[in-house]
Amino acid sequence: MSSNPNIAATPLSCRRGGALKGAVRPPGDKSISHRAFIFGLLCRGVTDIAGLLEGDDVMRTGEACKALGARIERIGEGNWRVAGMGVGALLAPPHPLDFGNAGTGSRLMMGVVGGHAVTATFDGDASLRKRPMRRILDPLALMGAQVLSQTEGGRCPIVLRGTSEPAPIVYRTPVASAQIKSAVLLAGLNAPGATTVIETEASRDHTEKMLRHFGAEVEVAPEGVAGRRITLKGRPELRPNPVVVPADPSSAAFPMVAALITPGSDITIEGVMMNPLRTGLLTTLLEMGAEIEVVDQRLEGGEDVANLRVRASALRGVDVPAARAPSMIDEYPVLAVAAAFAQGETRMRGLHELRVKESDRLAAVAAGLAAAGVDHAIDGDDLIVRGGDGDVRGGGLVETHLDHRIAMSFLVMGMASDRAMAIDDSAMIATSFPAFRGLMEQLGAQFA
Ligand code: S3P
Repeated sequence: MSSNPNIAATPLSCRRGGALKGAVRPPGDKSISHRAFIFGLLCRGVTDIAGLLEGDDVMRTGEACKALGARIERIGEGNWRVAGMGVGALLAPPHPLDFGNAGTGSRLMMGVVGGHAVTATFDGDASLRKRPMRRILDPLALMGAQVLSQTEGGRCPIVLRGTSEPAPIVYRTPVASAQIKSAVLLAGLNAPGATTVIETEASRDHTEKMLRHFGAEVEVAPEGVAGRRITLKGRPELRPNPVVVPADPSSAAFPMVAALITPGSDITIEGVMMNPLRTGLLTTLLEMGAEIEVVDQRLEGGEDVANLRVRASALRGVDVPAARAPSMIDEYPVLAVAAAFAQGETRMRGLHELRVKESDRLAAVAAGLAAAGVDHAIDGDDLIVRGGDGDVRGGGLVETHLDHRIAMSFLVMGMASDRAMAIDDSAMIATSFPAFRGLMEQLGAQFA
């Protein structure tokens, strides 16, 4: 299925070729790219962004920021300039905000709108229209925003009326979600007092880091065993500050797993963000016996980055604890592919949140594994994959359900399976990794 019912789907397949070799740099981090546009909007003055991910999801957020008053200009590849309005000074958008496939863009912008005296309609493609938004609308309602209309069950299209006086609240997120945390903090920017978000498991902290980068006062304290309490002082004067976007570890995951499972491979993935709240996949692959060397660790744009040298490896199955899920939430589909080539069983625990991503990823991964002849099971919220010790039959057609990561994961499987893997539609790959095919071909992958 294509995101637009009028556009035909673009099937793609990938077959086993030779070893993967060479060096590549994945695109800019999607989470930081969305936030760079949003913070550009919320500062009065000009914010320069380098290394922005020019994927569909981020472009939709850019369009939404423009509708709220920002002027946004592309200066060169990955280089963008945003002239923002400032907190409290947003304009009412003249048209509905269409976020396409982007859960992050829509949810973070609900936070922005919720804390301003504007009314906006939020909508997106068939995938976004299925995703739960009540988790965002509930805290925003506590802050004073009003949901004027919504589709059954808190889905898009949603009409949200924000408030110019958002109440400063203390909010405990019901699930570990950076999107919920970020929506509340972004609404709290315009609150006349402190807004606190408590999470029992730490989720990615890009919003907190960027708030500080732009001059806001944010306090972060530990909460319980693995959680955090984040407090933002409302109504700061955000000051423009250039943003350098590091390479996305969630996109790096695809060449990484491809090299691990394709015999003879030896590649380098450059400039990958090593924020510890995003490196769960790396930890897991190392436990599985992956030969991955972290080299040239450095700071870029306030984030730790490194080059990763990845060599084909004999992987073994592991037990992945539920507590690791927030730090690798988007990487389970491609981890399942790595597990299919490992020796023994891999159990990935606590994957309930995968059911509400761009697709029901638990079901989509299981269907893809079944199509490829991989022994697997779903046990409650756990996914169990029994690996073929380097040997996967492949040969299936995988339904991608408008989900870019399902599409890329099963193409990666085709790089090392006996028979080629085909996907029904590759169009959604452009949401997060438009250069995926070219970059993988540069390493030696063979698509058809
Ligand atoms: C994101 C948070 C995660 C992740 C998504 C990006 C973000 O979602 O799955 O791709 O940029 O804040 P949740 O916060 O819902 O877990």
